[in-house]
Formats: sequence, C-alpha cells, structure tokens
Amino acid sequence: MKTLVICVSKHHGNTDKVIQAIKTILEAEIVTPDNLDISTINNYDLIGFASGVYRMKPDSSLLKLVEKIPFQKGRKAFTLTTSGSGKEYQKNLNTGLIKKGFEIVGEFTSRGWTTFFILALFGGVNKGRPNEEDLERARQFAGEIRSRFN
Ligand SMILES: Cc1cc2nc3c(=O)[nH]c(=O)nc-3n(C[C@H](O)[C@H](O)[C@H](O)COP(=O)(O)O)c2cc1C
Repeated sequence: MKTLVICVSKHHGNTDKVIQAIKTILEAEIVTPDNLDISTINNYDLIGFASGVYRMKPDSSLLKLVEKIPFQKGRKAFTLTTSGSGKEYQKNLNTGLIKKGFEIVGEFTSRGWTTFFILALFGGVNKGRPNEEDLERARQFAGEIRSRFN
C-alpha cells in the first residue's frame, strides 16, 4: 500500500501532529501542496488531503491544488482537518475531490489549539489539542482505512 498525504499545517502544527500519528499506519509520505509534483499522484493507492481550517475552509493552496489534478477515476482519498470549533469544514474539499473522480474513503476532524485573532488575548482555546485521545481516534480512523487495503 502506498499513501501520499498532502498537508497544510501553518498555525500551530496541529494538523501535522495528527498526520504524524497515523503516518506509519498508512505507510505515508507527506508533502505540502507547494512541493507536490502532481504527476506522481498516479503512483499512490491512497491520497490524504489534510489541512488546518482557516476562515471556515481548508487552506486555499490545497483547494487550488485539487482544481489542478487531472481526472482520477476512482482513486481512493481521505480528508482530514483540525479546527478551533471541531466542526466539519471539509465540504468544499470533498466536493472538489469527487468532481475529480476520487472516491472518498474517510473523513476525520479534530479540535486544534488556536490563538487566532482575539483569542490570542485569552491564551487561545483548545490548548493541548489534538491530545492523546484525539490522536488515538485518528489511529483508529487510519486503521479502518488501512484494513480496506489488506
Ligand atoms: C487565520 C486563521 C483562521 C482560522 N479560522 C478558523 C475558522 O474559521 N473556524 C475554526 O473553527 N477555526 C479556525 N481557526 C483555527 C484553526 O483551524 C486551528 O487552530 C487548526 O487546528 C490549525 O491547524 P494547524 O495548526 O495545522 O495550522 C483559524 C486559525 C487561523 C490562524
């Protein structure tokens, strides 16, 4: 099984922390949208699209990258976000991926520490998140995806 995770984690490294926790389970290589050679996507069985949420969306570099990917005809993908509120903000990303022919085999979300804007004045929210419980949930998520490839 070959996995590529395209990850943006620019606030506190929260999303990267989750990806690092599942990297071995999925045998994943990790890149940023800027470092990706799109033609290499064809070499992977599973592509992960991971991002912090910035103004109610995954990072625009990830959304723009999806627009550039050629049609994929059923290649498996998962999406993963961390956010202050822990809400589902993956809709745009999932819709874009489905339009490109990806089959979404899983979606994961976790709360992440945020000191965005006025929250910085109060020391932020979700300090310590993702925590061990979040990471364990992520490992279970990855394990379920992994089992589909065995
Ligand atoms: C510029 C900016 C905008 C944000 N907008 C939102 C938002 O709209 N909703 C939300 O729940 N969290 C928001 N957050 C909090 C982040 O989604 C959260 O801290 C996330 O875990 C950051 O991931 P990262 O550390 O991997 O970058 C925002 C953070 C920043 C810096």
